[in-house]
Amino acid sequence: MNHFLDLSQIDKKELRNIVEEAKRRKKKYSIKKKVSVTESSNAQDKLLLMIFEKPSTRTRLSFDLAMRQLGGQTIVMNANDMHLGKGEESIEDTAKVISSFSDIVMFRTFSHKSLLELSNLLNIPLINGLTDHSHPCQLLSDVLTFEENKGSIKGAKVAWIGDGNNVTNSAIEAAVQFDFQLNISCPKGYMPSKKTLDWADKKNGKINIIQDPKKAVAGVDAIMSDKWISMGDKVNVKQKKKALKDYQANKKMMNLASKDAIFMHVLPAARGEEVSAEIIDGKQSVVWHQAENRLHGQKAIIDWCLD
Ligand code: CP
Ligand code: NVA
Repeated sequence: MNHFLDLSQIDKKELRNIVEEAKRRKKKYSIKKKVSVTESSNAQDKLLLMIFEKPSTRTRLSFDLAMRQLGGQTIVMNANDMHLGKGEESIEDTAKVISSFSDIVMFRTFSHKSLLELSNLLNIPLINGLTDHSHPCQLLSDVLTFEENKGSIKGAKVAWIGDGNNVTNSAIEAAVQFDFQLNISCPKGYMPSKKTLDWADKKNGKINIIQDPKKAVAGVDAIMSDKWISMGDKVNVKQKKKALKDYQANKKMMNLASKDAIFMHVLPAARGEEVSAEIIDGKQSVVWHQAENRLHGQKAIIDWCLD
């Protein structure tokens, strides 16, 4: 049994195998038969419990469909409807019940600490479905999307512009584990986690902090971005948006990247803020491809966790 908590916690060869498994399973998938089980998996007849403290569209849909295609089933719970969420039951007691009723758990939580606490209490695998610190499932499938559009990500140049958030932290970990260069351009005060940057440094990651977004995107193969205000962000919104105004992925910015660069975004997006409509809805954008690949990524992650 394996937990999928962060890309930094998993051996890089294993991560590569998960991406390859996602590619392999994707070939067998038929868009016309969304719930048919095409091949056996470790999730056959197993139950995935999903607990959400925050909203979700892609993560919820892709995990649910992934489990059906793997021959298993799901139960989705809103943390607010659970005794744990209301402070009426301890995490220890909740973990015992969850461990006996389900085979694998996905947790989307406000606090990364809660995820780690739960991982120590469960005796079944746990998947990080997004915390305030990271979003590893997203980056795993983003590697798949990059490679389908641009070929091997090894040695590629990617720029992250905008807010330095949970997704940026996972992008840094992905850059180290999948050997690509990541230029990070975020305004002062909105940088990604120092701990993650220090970890990347120790691992000799090719991470460049470049304050000027125009310099950060010069000649890159992909520009990545995310909403300026994340779920649960306790910030002065006006002040933050002002600090980020020069970090928009727009035509001028895309023109500085390599000629056939792609634009990537986690979604949901706020057009006119971190990205212009012209770019996200334009030819270089692969955002819908990214959203679809969450399904294929999740299938490989679940199968690996239950191995
Ligand atoms: N990208 C992503 O995780 O989307 P949701 O919040 O809709 O799950
Ligand atoms: N950074 C965003 C990602 C949403 C999928 C958030 O945490 O809200």
